[in-house]
Amino acid sequence: MKNIAVLTSGGDAPGMNAAIRAVVRTSINKGLNVYGIQKGYNGLIRGDMIEMDMSSVADIIQRGGTILRTARSEEFKTEEGRQKAYNMAKIFNIDGIVVIGGDGSFMGAKKLTELGIACVGVPGTIDNDLAYTDYTIGFDTAVNNVLDAINKIRDTSTSHERVSIIEVMGRNSGDIALYTGLAGGAECIIVPEVKYCLEDICKKLIMGRNSGKLHSIIILAEGAGDAKELEEQIRAKVDMDVRASILGYIQRGGNTSAFDRVLASRLGAKAVELLVEGKGGRVVGMRDNKIVDMDIHEALSMEKKFDYELYELANILSNRDRI
Ligand code: ADP
Ligand code: F6P
Repeated sequence: MKNIAVLTSGGDAPGMNAAIRAVVRTSINKGLNVYGIQKGYNGLIRGDMIEMDMSSVADIIQRGGTILRTARSEEFKTEEGRQKAYNMAKIFNIDGIVVIGGDGSFMGAKKLTELGIACVGVPGTIDNDLAYTDYTIGFDTAVNNVLDAINKIRDTSTSHERVSIIEVMGRNSGDIALYTGLAGGAECIIVPEVKYCLEDICKKLIMGRNSGKLHSIIILAEGAGDAKELEEQIRAKVDMDVRASILGYIQRGGNTSAFDRVLASRLGAKAVELLVEGKGGRVVGMRDNKIVDMDIHEALSMEKKFDYELYELANILSNRDRI
């Protein structure tokens, strides 16, 4: 390998910049030329790329978002689009690409590898929805962003003695809700992986109020329902002041946490090492604090397991009464 490239794809995630920095600096240290592709697979199709040097990635390790920009490319999902992307990689003599993104981006990376451009996937998504790695880059920062918001909402919720429903992102995964619900001391956590019972939630809210609680927090994963609808449903059943907040994109921005910076640095460096060894069609991740790599097809076919033990713990700890 002489020339490699890096791109970010799908939803941006804090820590993508730290990963880009690691890819660029590891590549240059290993004597490779490294290109930054702008706007995901769209940029590859159009040849929207520039050669990077050490200073191209200065002062970005802390910043959320992605300096390379990102995109969801419909064209790349077609065979013609991928052929154009392949042709463009050949024009620039690119032998390998580090793809930073989620499972959709990995699917694209797998197909591009099959066409003949070695790709390695680095997991960058706040959703933590990839089964083969304990954590994805951006998840920890998003969790901390949500915790900040919970603290603020709790202040006003206490003053008015309200029930606050806080809807968080995560697509089909309940991990952001689970971790923020546990760490934020929420009374209820609603996730797509666990069926919930409205009556049980209402009972818990009433019992909490009767025991002297000044507020209650319900964390709702976006994949499990709609905050406004839940607000109406609870209001119809209990005589309490219920308000919903949908946090939205605030979760995805801001300074990157230390955990995500370290994870992104380790994973970015490992991805380049694999390409140097001529190993395309792989993904990198972390298991039990060890950096691992795996066949991309195998990684994509693994089923993400929800942490029911953690969910149960959150449930036990949020009860004042013995269960
Ligand atoms: P994420 O990578 O965060 O899961 P998306 O699912 O939006 O985000 O995927 C990002 C991009 O990856 C898509 O816009 C598309 O260009 C590419 N992609 C997704 N699925 C496929 C697929 N099945 N085949 C080829 N490319 C894909
Ligand atoms: O995949 C990351 C994510 O933030 C999801 O949690 C959310 O459902 C989705 O992206 C939002 O996508 P968009 O940026 O296209 O609105």
